[in-house]
Amino acid sequence: MRIAFAKPARPNKGAFVVTVAEGGKLAPTAAALDKDLAGLLSGAIARSKFSGKPGQTLTVFSAEGRVVLLGVGDPDKLDANGAAALGGSIYVDLAHSGEKEAAVVLDLGGDTLPDLAAHVAMGFGLRSYRFDQYKTKLKKDDKPSLSKLTVMLDAHAKAKKLHEIEAAVAEGVAFTRDLVSEPPNVLFPEEFANRVKGLSKLGVEVEILGEKEMAKLGMGALLGVGQGSRRESKMAIMRWNGGKKSDQPIAFVGKGVCFDTGGISIKPAGGMEDMKFDMGGAGVVAGLMHGLAARRAKVNVVACLGLVENMPDGNAQRPSDVVTSMSGQTIEIINTDAEGRLVLADALWYIQDKYKPKFMLDLATLTGAMMVSLGEETCGYFSNDDELSDKLKAAGDAVAEPIWRMPLGDAYNKMMDSDIADMKNAGARWGGAITAACFLERFVNKVPWVHMDIAGVAWSRKDRPITPKGASGFMVRTLDRLVRDNYEG
Ligand code: BES
Ligand code: MN
Ligand code: ZN
Repeated sequence: MRIAFAKPARPNKGAFVVTVAEGGKLAPTAAALDKDLAGLLSGAIARSKFSGKPGQTLTVFSAEGRVVLLGVGDPDKLDANGAAALGGSIYVDLAHSGEKEAAVVLDLGGDTLPDLAAHVAMGFGLRSYRFDQYKTKLKKDDKPSLSKLTVMLDAHAKAKKLHEIEAAVAEGVAFTRDLVSEPPNVLFPEEFANRVKGLSKLGVEVEILGEKEMAKLGMGALLGVGQGSRRESKMAIMRWNGGKKSDQPIAFVGKGVCFDTGGISIKPAGGMEDMKFDMGGAGVVAGLMHGLAARRAKVNVVACLGLVENMPDGNAQRPSDVVTSMSGQTIEIINTDAEGRLVLADALWYIQDKYKPKFMLDLATLTGAMMVSLGEETCGYFSNDDELSDKLKAAGDAVAEPIWRMPLGDAYNKMMDSDIADMKNAGARWGGAITAACFLERFVNKVPWVHMDIAGVAWSRKDRPITPKGASGFMVRTLDRLVRDNYEG
């Protein structure tokens, strides 16, 4: 998708998008056009149900071409997230219209206009994401005709600059969506690691550990999960050094279970195909690193992805096995389907031990219980640090990715005690998202830490304003914002 910024002008080709406030009030550009077209636009509004609600569109054809009236609601209330959604609406309205390009004039007024314009463009870009390389029979009509948006406003140079930053992050979101969308016969641990290596072209240092190296480090928890797979387990470590040399890094850790059959505690067949996105946490971390590097973020970051495949096999681990994690703590395997926490246990330990980060944040499609709690609309998170938790909540609110803090506590933690080992990997039935978080907390020393359970939000079963159905990339923008607002410069 090509995106450009320019001074307001009537385009001589493509669709012309002009804005209308709630109640049908035409913005200046729309009003001037309406006058020149002898009331064609206001007449169309009067004869339709179009009322100028945010994202609502009405198409009118004049002799010169297609005019799209775009509702913006109350222009004084329009914020960056609303603007992004408008960009999404423009894409949806015109993607398959036959138009090749569109121009939108933003004449809403106000000092924040360049930022709103940048977000319109970002929303347009994010909504236009497609993953169709495995469709060999795509006809011309199946493909979008639209390939360019020009956002028009007086402060176009400023908007372009602001958009460069958002576009870098959006590229990161697309990278996440690509990884999460790939089928598991294509994206297994080694291939995931290869794709991460590609980030070195952006200046990210990438290091890949294989099973031998991980065995040397004592990562018995992670290795136990991958032991039933033909594919070698990998750990990908990324470093982005955009800060001062002496700055302590911040750290991100991702669950990268490239496919989760459940292992010997095998999952039922129905819905098992969803478990290709069980690497969603690692996908978000990879996309975040892409975005941070692409926008040259002034911060030191380390990231660690635990990449495995959880398979049933003659060599797979068994329920009742006891494994020793890198921390030295032993774990009784009650259920081989509670594998994500085993992967994270060693990844978290490795990162905090080696890099002594300012904080550590992990992401994982960890529990079905999280989906029972908050559904597919909100991401639950856990933290041992109120300040970090508040910063994260503010970041999620700022980019309109809903997140909600969940509790930790001794009573839940106790439920993970084992009769034979230091802990077990699966507790009782209730509070499964919380006991999983308590398990992870046992691998966190005094460092501020957050665990985000993205099981419900990594994959969207429906279209959303700036997210087409499928791999969402949710939390890339939240975490980028967390970094941007608190840890740069
Ligand atoms: N990957 C799953 C969790 C999951 C389920 C993510 C649905 C996304 C959608 C995880 O590894 C798992 O199987 N968790 C078990 C844990 C249980 C055995 C303690 C679960 O949630 O049932
Ligand atoms: Mn599982
Ligand atoms: Zn899993």
